[in-house]
Amino acid sequence: MSQGRFTSPLGAALTGIFDLFRAAPLKLRYTPDIRFDSRRILITGATTGLGYAVAEECARRGADLTLACRSGIPQTGEKIREVTGNAKVDMSRLDLADLDSIHACVDGLVSEGRTFDVVIFNAAVTLAKSRRTASGQDEMFLVNYLANVMLACLLLKRGCLASDARLLFISSDSHRGASAIDWAEFGTFFDYGVSKAISNYSYFKLLLNIMATELDRRLRTDGFSGTVNLICPGPVNSNIIREAPPFLRMVLRGIFTVIFKSPAKAAEPVVYLAGSADFNNRSNVYLHMFAEKPMDPKVYDPEEGQKLWDASVDLWKRIDSRASEALTDL
Ligand SMILES: NC(=O)c1ccc[n+]([C@@H]2O[C@H](COP(=O)([O-])OP(=O)(O)OC[C@H]3O[C@@H](n4cnc5c(N)ncnc54)[C@H](OP(=O)(O)O)[C@@H]3O)[C@@H](O)[C@H]2O)c1
Repeated sequence: MSQGRFTSPLGAALTGIFDLFRAAPLKLRYTPDIRFDSRRILITGATTGLGYAVAEECARRGADLTLACRSGIPQTGEKIREVTGNAKVDMSRLDLADLDSIHACVDGLVSEGRTFDVVIFNAAVTLAKSRRTASGQDEMFLVNYLANVMLACLLLKRGCLASDARLLFISSDSHRGASAIDWAEFGTFFDYGVSKAISNYSYFKLLLNIMATELDRRLRTDGFSGTVNLICPGPVNSNIIREAPPFLRMVLRGIFTVIFKSPAKAAEPVVYLAGSADFNNRSNVYLHMFAEKPMDPKVYDPEEGQKLWDASVDLWKRIDSRASEALTDL
């Protein structure tokens, strides 16, 4: 059975606290001249937490924004327009736990003729126990991993990405130390409780990192001049604990509020990676907040990357009748 880095939410929170004392060598590179004027950015899960803060800062820096969210429509866009004075913010409905919603969102972007210069795959969920989606998958597996593969492929194949687009996956340093992929359980639904949910969170981030690295390999050979990069924002005082059992949520909320970074602070390295010229033509970079470092060694194994890609595509084809049209030639 796969095993993530943590099985206890308190262990994960403690590691987050240590992260606050890490060196931030690139922090001085985050400057006001990083701008997004006339650049179009798509951000998933921008209603709250990190995604909202990144969206607000990108709007302040001149971006044309599309916020792909499952809730908060139209209030989130209205709020960002109001607080930033940037009117170029719109919203699109996207529920990553619902395959039809993913297609409908991309269909809408295509019909509006949207082409994105930056896509930030931010949305994720942490559940207190397993939950099955309508299409039969584990919800955390679908939202935090597989739906990101689908969305990236659909955006690419349906012409929604500029040829030099920057794709950014919001990951977590907790991917480090997760077990190797358990192929026997890949994509299968089974019941679990809090410990396994915490473990799965970091394991699915490992899958995400392996997939993003494989996507980067494939896009390189496809003549795409864009980039695929990843970042862990560090510990964020966000709503990610909203589904925790009440007592645990109360304890974690205390730690998050008093010790963790505000979403606005946590957004800084994400905005830096999304916009700085430091990353022109640099792909498969991993930032842990404001430090660049290698990911877990398992992420770079091309055989695992190929195998994960194939398994993900096979699964996607099995659960989604519209999968094939997005997958030709990738
Ligand atoms: N918080 C941390 O300490 C931390 C540390 C490392 C990495 N991260 C990563 O940072 C990213 C943002 O998380 P956060 O901490 O800001 O959490 P958050 O406050 O819970 O925000 C998560 C966002 O994802 C959206 N979302 C959840 N399920 C969705 C679905 N099925 N379809 C579409 N959107 C969905 C939520 O929308 P609703 O408002 O509609 O629920 C919300 O906008 C995640 O990738 C997370 O793994 C967080």
